[in-house]
Amino acid sequence: MGVAIEIAHAGGTDADALAVTVAQPLDGLDDRLSKLADTGELRGERGEALLLHGDGTRLVAAGLGKRDDVDDDALRTAGAAAAHALERVGGTIQWQLDETLPVPLPRQAAALVEGTILGAYTPGKWKTGENGRPKPIERIVLPGDDVRGAAERAALLAERTNRARDLANMPPNELDPETLAGHASALADEHEHLTATALGPEEMDALGMGALSAVGRGSHNTPRLIVLRYEPPQATRPDLVLGLVGKSITFDAGGISIKPAAGMEAMKGDMAGGAGTLHGIGAIAALGLPVRAIAVLAAAENLPSGRAFRPGDILRAANGKTIEIINTDAEGRLVLADALWYARREGATHVLDLATLTGAMVVALGDLYAGVFANDDEWRDRIVAAGERSGDLVWPFPLHPRYRRYIDSAYADMKNGSTLREGSPALAAEFLREFAGEGPWAHVDMAGPGFLDRSRGDYLRVPGGTGYGVRLIAELATSLA
Ligand code: BES
Ligand code: MN
Ligand code: ZN
Repeated sequence: MGVAIEIAHAGGTDADALAVTVAQPLDGLDDRLSKLADTGELRGERGEALLLHGDGTRLVAAGLGKRDDVDDDALRTAGAAAAHALERVGGTIQWQLDETLPVPLPRQAAALVEGTILGAYTPGKWKTGENGRPKPIERIVLPGDDVRGAAERAALLAERTNRARDLANMPPNELDPETLAGHASALADEHEHLTATALGPEEMDALGMGALSAVGRGSHNTPRLIVLRYEPPQATRPDLVLGLVGKSITFDAGGISIKPAAGMEAMKGDMAGGAGTLHGIGAIAALGLPVRAIAVLAAAENLPSGRAFRPGDILRAANGKTIEIINTDAEGRLVLADALWYARREGATHVLDLATLTGAMVVALGDLYAGVFANDDEWRDRIVAAGERSGDLVWPFPLHPRYRRYIDSAYADMKNGSTLREGSPALAAEFLREFAGEGPWAHVDMAGPGFLDRSRGDYLRVPGGTGYGVRLIAELATSLA
């Protein structure tokens, strides 16, 4: 692990491949490339990469699409396409930058590095044999010392993102709440100011966490509330504690309200919010950001069994509120209820939860944007802006008290779902508000971009976990520093 960033000028290195970007219209190309442009073999389309060989050297030409439209995402996509073209080569890749593009050089370098590392990712970790295994990229060479900082930060974030992808891709027979807690404590061991603990079923009972513990009851793999704390020595705002809460359902079969069989395997990715949260706080620690933070992962496996919770049950959450269960498949909001309460109890002043919460969010926004619901406009705008800068895109949705009637219950303080097929992401957010306590809070429903059924055609070239949230959290924390 760890792609090295090196600064050197073109020529004079022993790179396995030189990589250049190509924008449209195709002009200012060197001889070799302009011949290919003439024959129509090189077009500079976004996401296209051409690998050329010539007397002991390799050259990759990665397309950016129209020059005037080039942005960070176009550069990330070019980086990923180049990594893909070099999957049988690996080793050292040397990127050339282009001063004539409408993106400043440090941002160009960062986006190319990020795209290269994300594009080199493979979900096929369980395949046996060498076939189909890409050769790892070990080193990225860039010109100019002025881009070093941006490139190193991008490499770090892309690697942490890939680690979050690894967690989401792990099969549920290998990743359960207990082993997830093990990953958290291993991460904490990597960083001086990061600590991890995990509460088990008895500790949850003692705190009255009836919602989280009910969801976990159907499985022999018992639930965990995983807590990481980052306490930097010199916090710039000692009164501010960033609270990160992640839905961490290691497998969501739906429980007694069982899901249909088709596609159920993708529900191993129902802990993607937790994965982003875990490696998000890890990235904050690795960057040494002067912002206090706490991450709370609500981990459980939602299975049907003779011990499982049922529709009709009435649960009492840690904040004392009662919940009538309408559908055991609306489990994410239940585990988050107790985790949000815990994050506040532990001092979180500004809370962000990440959750693959509703199928309707996927219907609304597809695999690109997540939706954000917040009780504070300034906090929401800050998250939207961090999303824009980081590539983990977020779009604002309404949090409005008049959605509350959808979850009014005749028996309890609220119910966990509605039988109407209406407004499901908004009423889920309204449910969470009941547990989010005082102070700024935002809920990001990342059901679409958190786990892909197929390639997105950009720098996320493969199905499975995306590491959504790692870059968002790092960018958000940076904005608070
Ligand atoms: N984990 C699912 C949401 C989901 C669906 C994530 C598809 C990613 C892709 C969640 O626990 C769920 O089952 N939500 C239900 C809630 C409903 C029963 C109220 C949904 O959205 O259908
Ligand atoms: Mn569910
Ligand atoms: Zn779920």
